[in-house]
Amino acid sequence: MSPVFSSYNIVTAIDRKNTEWTAVLWNPLSGAMDLVDASIAEAVQRRELRALSSSQVELLVNRGYIYARKEEETARLSQLFKAYNMAYAEKAMAFVLIPTYRCNLACPYCFQSADQHAESDIMSEELVDLAFDAMAVLANEKLWGKGKTLGLFGGEPLIAERRQMGIVEYILRQAKHEGFRHIKIITNGFDIAAYFDMLSEFEVDTLQLTLDGPRPIHDARRRTRDGAGSFDRVLSAVKEALERGFTTHVRVNLDRRNISALPELVRILLNEGIGQHKGSIIAPAIVGDFGKLGTYGDVLSWSEALEGVFNAFGQLEMASKVLRLDAWPALKHIQYALRERRPYLPSFKHCDSEHHTYVLDNKGDIYTCPDISGRKEYAVGQFSPEVIRFEAKLAEWRTRSIFNIPKCSQCSYALICGGGCGLEALNRHGDLLQPLCPREEIEKMLQLAFSYYYEQLLGNPSLLAGNGGL
Ligand SMILES: C[S@@+](CC[C@H](N)C(=O)[O-])C[C@H]1O[C@@H](n2cnc3c(N)ncnc32)[C@H](O)[C@@H]1O
Ligand code: SF4
Ligand code: SF4
Repeated sequence: MSPVFSSYNIVTAIDRKNTEWTAVLWNPLSGAMDLVDASIAEAVQRRELRALSSSQVELLVNRGYIYARKEEETARLSQLFKAYNMAYAEKAMAFVLIPTYRCNLACPYCFQSADQHAESDIMSEELVDLAFDAMAVLANEKLWGKGKTLGLFGGEPLIAERRQMGIVEYILRQAKHEGFRHIKIITNGFDIAAYFDMLSEFEVDTLQLTLDGPRPIHDARRRTRDGAGSFDRVLSAVKEALERGFTTHVRVNLDRRNISALPELVRILLNEGIGQHKGSIIAPAIVGDFGKLGTYGDVLSWSEALEGVFNAFGQLEMASKVLRLDAWPALKHIQYALRERRPYLPSFKHCDSEHHTYVLDNKGDIYTCPDISGRKEYAVGQFSPEVIRFEAKLAEWRTRSIFNIPKCSQCSYALICGGGCGLEALNRHGDLLQPLCPREEIEKMLQLAFSYYYEQLLGNPSLLAGNGGL
């Protein structure tokens, strides 16, 4: 039987002048990442064994680009899938509560509607009690998770208004009573000052606030309905959050209106002592179309945004040290591998919605994804007046993986893409199993990333065991 090429070989040409090596070979299943010359890159790309010498074949077998028999790859795949499932079994069950969809800001790119934000509904104490009862049922029934984490999401969960403050306090008290160990709040930060003592008292551990740029840029988009900006309040909230010991994520939503100001924002965060603080995580994200289908015109593609981020790295070296690129498929794997000198586990699924997230909102509905919440047609259950799971809909999310999405089962990028975003699949095709396929974007991103990280790849012999030998 003749050897076979792996189904997961990724060959990326490097767009740099005068480099010794012209392409990167990457196999996310074996974890190998190697700089190679054009002849090997072409042979692997075209799957031409004949073009390789026997010693080259042997090296490629050792690195997991070629298998002696197809069954060996299948066995490795199922072994890693098992390890992946076990890693997720260790992760805490994730619940998210939406106390209200109302919001005190009116960000033009927000994927939620102005109508949702104008509502006045806030969870009642009775509904909070039902939500915690439901969480106990949902947690016990699941295969995943040894602990439980709670997130608060919105609309805006932290509006400084008496009734809302009362219900947030009630939620936090219940969470403590029910033994939730990690509590994270996603907030615009506008009113958080009024909440800090409460958040400290109930041992909330993580906050996420959004800062979209230097003051004029941030204020043009993260603003109230009356047009008042929020930069000063959010910046001082981030500083206070760090002083009080909260792990603080600073999210930067990038689009055409603010990408070029990224270096300036990082400079501000460094000057304020935020960027280098060990409790801070600065993670740019990309403004997405999530269901608005083209109504916000300034979105960037993933590769355009990545190019902007690399430009920022070029202008300000510290930016490359403090910005985490987890929002970009593949980049998470590459940054991790270069930082930790070992491969990141393959992405058999796209995100936590396909594992263990339950979102419970102020209407008594249950969802798998915070970004889809409020769209009743996509609810996977309800918890008021009693818990009812819409089993078929829930199963569609939880079983979604690269193995059951027809388009993905043959894709060489599957293990870094995870089958694309389920929400986008629903928005575009109304079908979780028909992804809005980012293949071309992934190709472009890999080219940008490997060209950018070329020196680090050269200097990373543990990751690049085959470097120079192939
Ligand atoms: C809908 S908001 C709710 C919580 C809170 N109001 C806030 O802004 O953090 C949740 C998250 O979605 C982000 N967001 C809103 N619209 C987005 C979009 N179109 N694309 C990407 N992120 C978006 C916000 O920056 C925030 O981090
Ligand atoms: S603050 Fe959050 S929920 Fe409100 S409009 Fe902005 S992104 Fe949307
Ligand atoms: S969505 Fe496209 S790129 Fe992603 S795994 Fe599926 S086929 Fe591959």
